[in-house]
Amino acid sequence: MLGRLDLGIDLGTANTLVYVKGKGIIVNEPSVIAINADNNEIVKVGIEAKRMIGKTPSFIQAIRPLKDGVIADYEVALAMLMYFISRAQESFSFFRPRVVIGVPVGVTEVESRALLRAGKEAGAKKVFLIEEPMATALGAGLSVEEPQGNMVVDIGGGTTEAAVISLGSIVTWTSIRVAGDEFDDAIIQYVREIYRVTIGVRTAERVKIEIGNVYSLKEFDELQTDVVGIELSTGLPKKLTLTGGEIREAIKPTAMQIVETVKTTLEKTPPELVADITEGGIVVAGGGSLLRGISELLSKETGIDVYSAEEPMTCVAKGAGMVLDKMDILARLKNIE
Ligand SMILES: Nc1ncnc2c1ncn2[C@@H]1O[C@H](COP(=O)(O)OP(=O)(O)OP(=O)(O)O)[C@@H](O)[C@H]1O
Ligand SMILES: [Mg+2]
Repeated sequence: MLGRLDLGIDLGTANTLVYVKGKGIIVNEPSVIAINADNNEIVKVGIEAKRMIGKTPSFIQAIRPLKDGVIADYEVALAMLMYFISRAQESFSFFRPRVVIGVPVGVTEVESRALLRAGKEAGAKKVFLIEEPMATALGAGLSVEEPQGNMVVDIGGGTTEAAVISLGSIVTWTSIRVAGDEFDDAIIQYVREIYRVTIGVRTAERVKIEIGNVYSLKEFDELQTDVVGIELSTGLPKKLTLTGGEIREAIKPTAMQIVETVKTTLEKTPPELVADITEGGIVVAGGGSLLRGISELLSKETGIDVYSAEEPMTCVAKGAGMVLDKMDILARLKNIE
């Protein structure tokens, strides 16, 4: 396809995705960039940079330029955005793209301007910002423009956002800086407290993905995996076997904070919309929604059915790309030309 190029970008704390209309997701990589501190040169971006976390010699830094869904390190975020946009452009077009970037609902003016500017500097012709729950809902195929309440809960790496949408706008929302990364931290703390062993963050994430769960089920109790950490008393490597039951104990309090966020949002929502949600259910998305038992827990605690978005990790980018065809929603988005 030559000619106009439209991109939807999910610049997440954990992962960056780029969606191209008609092509689908063309970039899906960790939001990590490795930089040589001696000369400020980019060493690696994405998956290869993530592999370096915790394993770099001192002159190389593996940086996650986004924190809690917004830019924490402007220069580095810009470099990463440029890299991903240029990759999308290389494959499809000589023209500068229109770009829609997903942002957390509570984003400040300063943060918005930084992102718009970064998008322009990265080579976009026009940049729009879309609130992530709206993008999630669009990407998940919900009918957001109807006078009808839809609830989406996006559990990402850095933030969880619960939002109710009706008539193409967000009616109520709550955001907390508790999501996937917080589960990893809880696992690290648990292993340190109970076994007096320190494990790395990448190991903790692996444990979460392999055996993490937040709902009491016998099959979850029986899961197990091995880790190697450093024993605090000796400073020597120590191998441990962790079970699903104990990891649930370690991360359940974190999951309950997410449950509370959803409840708070429902409490703020007008009754007619709550009635719609009770009827239609809650849609969960984001990488954190893949955690075993999280839908069951949410459903038990709210009394409302919970459904997983079809592609929970790609719907923000997809929804951001899709909004370019929705003129009335597009007209309301913050943008820069
Ligand atoms: N199978 C899985 N089980 C549990 N957690 C998972 C699984 N797969 C990925 N995750 C977690 O999902 C998180 C990343 O999700 P996602 O890509 O939606 O975040 P993000 O959009 O980059 O972050 P944010 O929206 O907070 O800016 C990470 O914490 C990762 O460990
Ligand atoms: Mg996200």
